Amino acid sequence: MTIDPAPSRTNRLEVAALAKSVPGPPALFRGLDLVVGAGELVAIIGESGVGKSTLLNILAGLDTADAGEVRVDGVALGPLDEAARTRVRRERIGFVFQAFHILPYLTLRQNVALPLALVSPDARAAGERADAMLDAVGLGMRGSGYARDLSGGELQRVAIARALVHRPALILADEPTGNLDPETAAKVLALFADAVREGGAAAVLVTHSDATAAIADRVLTLTAQGLVPRG
Ligand SMILES: Nc1ncnc2c1ncn2[C@@H]1O[C@H](COP(=O)(O)OP(=O)(O)OP(=O)(O)O)[C@@H](O)[C@H]1O
Ligand SMILES: [Mg+2]
Repeated sequence: MTIDPAPSRTNRLEVAALAKSVPGPPALFRGLDLVVGAGELVAIIGESGVGKSTLLNILAGLDTADAGEVRVDGVALGPLDEAARTRVRRERIGFVFQAFHILPYLTLRQNVALPLALVSPDARAAGERADAMLDAVGLGMRGSGYARDLSGGELQRVAIARALVHRPALILADEPTGNLDPETAAKVLALFADAVREGGAAAVLVTHSDATAAIADRVLTLTAQGLVPRG
């Protein structure tokens, strides 16, 4: 399945003049510009409630902005209908949610294989790639176990494996190491770094962690006026 019009992958995220309000003043942000190139990893920091998760949801086409444009891997999200936006998300984006959204009654392998299963008929290849990703996050022996039995840090690692399994053009992750000890965090950060530096993906990681910010090419602070270099 392919998406048109997208002749080739750019692995770029381009955001221009984005504005978003939620009920009750003031606006979360306006005039927000951001370009993340292929092979670039950007960390976004900012106070609780400033709108970081909302921004990631807009970049993934899960929420809509009041104004401005988002272009993922060469495709502008604004003009797309819901079905086309979902296709962009499935095929080109890997998303690690702040609340994981791992499905409790699927096995870990089924959870991780899901992004591939949605776009490719090759279930066996999807299972093998899912196992490799679970191995990479230290859960290789747990693939046939159920997500409902996992700890918070284990769920987070499954979420990261699932976000990277289909080699997305754009990686969006919301506090991806929030529940991990420093050693495990370093291991999963290396996976993000690999996907970006070797896989050529663009990545935006929301984080409060210095270790996560340290692997970023740029660290930006979200403010009501948009993203500004960390002061
Ligand atoms: N659909 C909505 N309706 C009303 N308010 C909303 C909605 N979505 C988000 N908000 C509000 O917008 C603000 C930004 O929320 P968001 O979750 O983006 O913050 P955040 O920067 O990710 O915070 P944290 O660091 O705590 O995760 C919050 O005050 C939140 O309550
Ligand atoms: Mg948040």
